[in-house]
Amino acid sequence: MVLVYGKLCGEISHLRKAGCISAEHGSKDKGWYKADVPSIGRETLFGNAPMSSTLFSPLTLPNGVVVQNRLCKAAMEENMAEAGQVPGGALINLYTAWSNAAAASDAGPGIVLSGNVMINPTAMTGPGGVVLEAGTLDDPALRGQFERWANSGQAGGSKFVMQISHPGRQIFAAMDIQAVSPSATKVTLPGLADKMFAPARALTPDEIRGQIRRFAETALAAQAAGFDGVQIHGAHGYLVAQFLSPLTNQRTDEWGGPLENRSRFLLDIVRAIRDRVNADFIVGVKLNSADFQRGGFDIEDSVQVVDWLNAEAVDFVEISGGSYESSAMMGSSQDGRLESSTETRELYFFDFAKRISKTANMPLMVTGGVTKLATAETALADAGVDMVGVGRAFAYNPHLVADWREGKRTDITIGQTKWKDKALSSLAGMAMTKQQLYRLGDGLNIKAKQNAVFAMIGQQLKTGRLTKRYKAWLASKNLG
Ligand SMILES: Cc1cc2nc3c(=O)[nH]c(=O)nc-3n(C[C@H](O)[C@H](O)[C@H](O)COP(=O)(O)O)c2cc1C
Repeated sequence: MVLVYGKLCGEISHLRKAGCISAEHGSKDKGWYKADVPSIGRETLFGNAPMSSTLFSPLTLPNGVVVQNRLCKAAMEENMAEAGQVPGGALINLYTAWSNAAAASDAGPGIVLSGNVMINPTAMTGPGGVVLEAGTLDDPALRGQFERWANSGQAGGSKFVMQISHPGRQIFAAMDIQAVSPSATKVTLPGLADKMFAPARALTPDEIRGQIRRFAETALAAQAAGFDGVQIHGAHGYLVAQFLSPLTNQRTDEWGGPLENRSRFLLDIVRAIRDRVNADFIVGVKLNSADFQRGGFDIEDSVQVVDWLNAEAVDFVEISGGSYESSAMMGSSQDGRLESSTETRELYFFDFAKRISKTANMPLMVTGGVTKLATAETALADAGVDMVGVGRAFAYNPHLVADWREGKRTDITIGQTKWKDKALSSLAGMAMTKQQLYRLGDGLNIKAKQNAVFAMIGQQLKTGRLTKRYKAWLASKNLG
């Protein structure tokens, strides 16, 4: 038996006439319907109806947890924490919109990933980030705020997975906190943007072990708050990716050198988390398929790391790529490799996911470039993945799951610029997406017409205000 979804007057009535429906239930007034039908071919059931039985079929993860469909709302840093770096009304509004609970109790994406949550108050990807560490939930008021956030992402039947992260050297210089990294390096960007990041100092072995412990403590706290799992952010040039990449990891001890040593940080984090959380708590990893920089972590390395992860209790791996220096996750790479492939123009990491899928034993997800139902279906049919991650399209259409489930061919235009300076262009794109996230957090509709320059200025002003507040908070904790 499979589950199919459609409007009562459309596909479902077609099925009923064909005598295929054996049991049915749903919500006529809310415009969609669900029915159990014998699992005969999609063509037989729908002809060319734009509906996918795969995209909306459940997936059982290795730990036995069932995810209701193959769509994932990918992590997008919201920059919306309240004072004290905790979730509040804006984040809850945003995740309520995504879980789409207003449509139905099972209308959300299979997995909702949070934007990255910091494991350490002195290591922030941005000043509006949420921090969760050992002891945070001891305060009943804070515990309540995290619990409400967890509930908001689950209301549409989604599994709400918290992405946990340490930025390493990718810390804005304006935040005045000492960045750390496997080795003393600095993010290098062309032009004025180069001033955005300050040099990092190398972590000591004791500090490395301390960060691993922090990842596990945050995972445990996420479980206590009611989240369904965590995803270790091992991509996009953040600390875990800095350990993996030979460009940023120049250590000569057990944490650097051959890939086996460079992967130790990630593998130890996975093991430390698994040792502490329940078996049915989801543990995922976001991994670069490549850094898209000469001499960086590359596809062969990624395949090898996934092979090592096969031996661990990992429930899914999400494939992405790039960093601030090479924004492949936004479809434009420093080494030009993404742009040169016509096949990957829409689904950025199609070829890479296909290669990794030959090795991965755990469910694989690919994220990057999906804005159309047909592209999501291609990923599942041809890229060898089990789930599809969608980021920006969810910011521009929070009702994506419901729309695609009804077979609507939504036309989503994401705010992007084609400026010559790729790094600046990528920052402008991020600012435009964040503008939409802020609007959803404020309970407003999506802005139909955006201006990249205004979005960037707005983002700068907001970041300035939040940086001030963050510094005061750090000082109040005697950490600043
Ligand atoms: C505003 C914004 C914030 C993002 N924040 C995160 C993040 O916190 N963690 C992460 O892994 N990726 C983050 N990403 C990258 C997305 O998860 C995703 O990999 C990327 O947007 C490509 O997917 P898309 O084409 O579906 O948007 C962010 C992207 C945007 C646009």
